[in-house]
Amino acid sequence: MEKLVSLAKRRGFVFQSSEIYGGLGSVWDYGPLGVELKKNIKERWWRSMVHEREDIEGLDAAILMHPKVWEASGHIAGFTDPLVDCKHCKNRFRADDPRIKGTPGQPDAQCPACGTKGTLTAPRQFNLMFKTFMGPVEEDAAVIYLRPETAQGIYVNYLNVLQSSRQKIPFGIAQIGKAFRNEITPGNFIFRTREFEQMEMQFFVKPGSEKEWFERWRAERMQWVEGLGVRTEKLRWHQHGKDELAHYAADAYDIQYEFPFGWQEFEGIHNRTDFDLKNHQQHSGKKLDYLDAATNERFIPYVVETSAGADRTALVVLCDAYREEAVKGEEGEGNEQQRVVLKLKPSLAPLKAAVFPLVNKDGMPDVARRIYDDLRRRFNVFYDDGGSIGRRYRRQDEAGTPFGITIDGQTTQDQTVTVRDRDTLKQVRVASSALIEYLAEKLAT
Ligand code: GAP
Repeated sequence: MEKLVSLAKRRGFVFQSSEIYGGLGSVWDYGPLGVELKKNIKERWWRSMVHEREDIEGLDAAILMHPKVWEASGHIAGFTDPLVDCKHCKNRFRADDPRIKGTPGQPDAQCPACGTKGTLTAPRQFNLMFKTFMGPVEEDAAVIYLRPETAQGIYVNYLNVLQSSRQKIPFGIAQIGKAFRNEITPGNFIFRTREFEQMEMQFFVKPGSEKEWFERWRAERMQWVEGLGVRTEKLRWHQHGKDELAHYAADAYDIQYEFPFGWQEFEGIHNRTDFDLKNHQQHSGKKLDYLDAATNERFIPYVVETSAGADRTALVVLCDAYREEAVKGEEGEGNEQQRVVLKLKPSLAPLKAAVFPLVNKDGMPDVARRIYDDLRRRFNVFYDDGGSIGRRYRRQDEAGTPFGITIDGQTTQDQTVTVRDRDTLKQVRVASSALIEYLAEKLAT
C-alpha cells in the first residue's frame, strides 16, 4: 500500500488534505490525474445506471436535509459504532478493533496504542454523523447533519421524481454525491475516509418482487464491476450475517475486492424493504404510497439499493492496475528495466495518450504540438518534451496512460507517428490523420 500511496502523490492522483498543516485525519484530495480517474468511474456508472436504462432517473439532492430525516431513517438512534476509550493515553478505538487484547472494561484488556492494561472503558455507542448548526444561533434546535448516505435524499424525493418523470413501479432513482461519517478507525488511504462519494441507486418495486429484483441487481452490479477491467479472481461476494446487517436491511451482499490489506467491501446490494419509505411517511405525515393503476392496489414500495463508494472503487481500480515489472529496455535504455505501471483500462485512464517529439529539433516539436492540439479537442492528452524518450515513457506508465505517440524523423517525411502500447510495449506506425479514429476505437469499451 505504501508504494501505491507514494505513486499516487508523485503522479498527482491523491494528496493528503491540508498537507502543509500536517494533514487532516483521513481526508484526501484528488489531484489532476485522480480527479480524472474518479470522474471516469462516476461517468461510467451514470451512463450504465441512468442513460442506458429507461427505468432509472437521475437526482442530485442537497447534502443538508431536514433533521427529522435522520430520525425517520433511524440514523440518529442506530447509526452508531461501539467505542472504547483508553483512560491512560486518551485514544479511542472501535470495540471490535482486532488489536485490542482482552475484554474492554475488564482488567485484562490492553490498550493497542500505549499498551497499558486495565485502562480501556466498557464499550459505549458513538454516533457517526457529523453535526453542525444551521443559521446564526448554535443551539439544539438548529442542529443539522451532514448526510452519512445519499440514499435519504432519494427517498424524500421519490414522489417528486415519480410524478415528474411519469415512471411506473418498478423504477429507480440514481444519485452520485458526497457523504460524511465521523469514522473512528479510518485508514488504509482512501478506503475509509470521513468525507467520501457514493454512487447509489434505489430501485422501487412491488412488495413480493423484491427478492427477484435483488438477485437481478446483484448480477447487474457484478457485471458492471467486471467491466472496470478488474481481475475477477480478486472479486467475491460476501453475504451479511444477522449481526452485520445495517438497521434498515433485511438482506445484504457486499462485493469485496482483495486489497493489499485483505478482502473488503466496496459496494453493497441491500434489500431495504419498505423500512425507509414507511418511516418517512410516519414522521412526515405525508402519504408516500403508490397507486398501481392496473390493479387499483395501493402499497408502499419495497426498495432494492445498490450502493458503491466512488473513492473505494477508485482504490480497487488503482490497486488492481498497479504492477512492478521487469521489461526489455526501450529507446536509450539498457537491456532490462524495472518499471512501475498502472495497467488501467484505457477508458478509465486519466490521460488517454501522451505526445512526444523524439528530439526538440528538426521541426518535430511543431508537428508534435499540432498533433497534440488536434487530439486534445477530443481526449485528455499530455505533451511532454522533457528528458530521454525512455524516461518519458516511464512517467506515463506510472500515470497509467495507455498510448505514447512519438513524432520522429520519419513523421516529417510520411506523416506517420509511432504509437506505443503501455502494456505490450509494442509500437505501430499510424498515419497522424488517423490518430483520432485509432484512439477512439481503443477507448470504446
Ligand atoms: N446507503 C447504504 C450505505 O451507505 P454502506 O455499506 O454504509 O451502505 C456503501 O456504504 C458504500 O459506501 C461502501 O460499500 C463503500 O464503498 C462506501 N463507504 C462507506 N463508508 C465509507 C467511508 N468511510 N469511506 C469511504 N467509502 C465509504
